[in-house]
Amino acid sequence: MTDSPEFHDRLLSLGLARVAEQAAIASAALVGRGDEKAADQAAVTAMRNQLNLLDIAGVVVIGEGERDEAPMLYIGEEVGTGAGPAVDIALDPLEGTTLTAKAMPNALTVIAMAPRGTLLHAPDTYMDKLAVGPGYPENVVSLQMSAKERVEALAAARGCAPSDITVCILERPRHQEMIDDVRATGAAIKLITDGDVAGVIHCAEAEKTGIDMYMGTGGAPEGVLAASALKCMGGQFWGRLVFRNDDEKARASKAGITDFDRIYSRDELVTGDVIFAATGVTDGSIVAGIKRSPGFVETETILMRSRTGSVRRMSYRTPVA
Ligand code: FBP
Repeated sequence: MTDSPEFHDRLLSLGLARVAEQAAIASAALVGRGDEKAADQAAVTAMRNQLNLLDIAGVVVIGEGERDEAPMLYIGEEVGTGAGPAVDIALDPLEGTTLTAKAMPNALTVIAMAPRGTLLHAPDTYMDKLAVGPGYPENVVSLQMSAKERVEALAAARGCAPSDITVCILERPRHQEMIDDVRATGAAIKLITDGDVAGVIHCAEAEKTGIDMYMGTGGAPEGVLAASALKCMGGQFWGRLVFRNDDEKARASKAGITDFDRIYSRDELVTGDVIFAATGVTDGSIVAGIKRSPGFVETETILMRSRTGSVRRMSYRTPVA
């Protein structure tokens, strides 16, 4: 872990939790209403308002999209009062818009903050991802291995049978071959319909979640957020950008990426200290979702810092009209 006292990570962490909390509270009224866009918009507006109260000179490096397609929290937007440390911000105001619209588990509001220039400016493309929790030898598995080899290597490192391993994978047709390969080893698969930031975080608390490894292709921005979380909690993460067309390659070039085939480790995606906060919108295995009772709303937030490896779960209750 690097030492960057000017980052003020300890002081800023509570502010970051507030940002995640307010975004979750704003989207809560839209849980189960079938309107992904409205839920996302509510979270975006609240997150931006709250971020702008923080004493930081922040720049959004992972956000809602390019400036011409996102009016708020676009990539490059400056946030905060400007009176404070220069930081990079990666955010997903609502990770799991469909989960929220359908009132399904594990929708989160997610934000990470790190010293300026230390988060990969990931373009809005896909990323091939692989993650395991803490306690394994370095590079115990790799993106170059087949799905079968990964399960076997992880089982060998744990001293168990492949059938004792559980892998989390996004349920998509593009993953069918991977799913078949993992099943052929005898390992179990936890299929998720959305939300691979949560999917990756599960690996860091394997004893609680029962998930040992995450693999598959999902959003590249979510990959940087997931790597930030694992940098705080412990665990290994690798990501390789996946491009579907030249437009996506052009986006990557614009973001400063020159090697399109590069495999990034966790610490290459997040090169310095980072703080990470996520609040539950719907109930999940990492944090509980928003609860409403007459006159009050209650949230649960996971707040962590890589410098100390501290992980807090904070509940917050506030009166509502
Ligand atoms: P949204 O909240 O933006 O809908 O993203 C949800 C998500 O499941 C991510 O967690 C994941 O990285 C990505 O979508 C996968 O993309 P796709 O749905 O195109 O497979």
